[in-house]
Amino acid sequence: MTDRVALVTGASQGIGRACAKALASRGAHVVAGARQADKLAALVEEIRADGGNADAVQLDVQDQASIDAVAASHGKSIDILVNNAGITGDGLAMRMRDDDWQRVLDTNLTGSFRCARAFMRNMVRKRWGRIVNVASVVALSGNPGQVNYVASKAGIIGLTKSLALELAARSVTVNAVAPGFVDTAMTGELDEEARARILSQVPLGRMGQLDEIAGAVCFLASEESGYITGHVLNVSGGLYM
Ligand code: NAI
Repeated sequence: MTDRVALVTGASQGIGRACAKALASRGAHVVAGARQADKLAALVEEIRADGGNADAVQLDVQDQASIDAVAASHGKSIDILVNNAGITGDGLAMRMRDDDWQRVLDTNLTGSFRCARAFMRNMVRKRWGRIVNVASVVALSGNPGQVNYVASKAGIIGLTKSLALELAARSVTVNAVAPGFVDTAMTGELDEEARARILSQVPLGRMGQLDEIAGAVCFLASEESGYITGHVLNVSGGLYM
């Protein structure tokens, strides 16, 4: 991926951080975006210490002005966009507040759309680009207690396919990775009982590792995946087939 510049949103921790490190280790110049400058600085330092190239940018995907600022500073060089930033706001539909619905939709779905809109320009101009959206297997299976999150991730799959059709003529591919159950801060909120219940449904019998999700993202961001677009790559240990 030498000569490619990759923007990863939500790169400060978890899957986004792993994607940033994996892309850098494959030669990409990584632009790591998130709200927490201190965590990003540590990531950039780690990547550089390993011989990679990276910059940190302050990016809040819920805030159009923040996206515009990154587009102004780095937009002309981005070849690869990994739309990873995401949140949950769980609760049963009957009791869900509008605010919890809106916050999750704004971050996960609208944030991904706005970043794609802002950063596809350089790809279209260069007639080469990769957009990889991080969805979730629950977008395919549904999940009680997560109507907002699941709707946002199902929306990301629709976004992925429609964008893939719009950008195919310019050799820009748009794909999604749908992770299953991965050990991060997001799943750390689950209690032991919920963990055991989910794990019992995973045919491979374990949680996914960060590198396994990052590897799938890197593949879809690579040269070799050039004939794949509009695809949803399920990385879930068989949780959903
Ligand atoms: P995490 O909570 O560790 O990381 C989420 C990242 O997104 C953090 O860096 C956070 O700062 C960032 N973020 C949140 N709101 C943001 C905003 N407004 N602007 C910029 N950055 C923002 O969670 P994890 O697990 O690493 O999640 C990464 C992605 O993977 C999310 O989209 C999540 O929905 C998805 N995913 C995670 C699964 C899991 O089992 N952990 C399963 C399926 C999907």
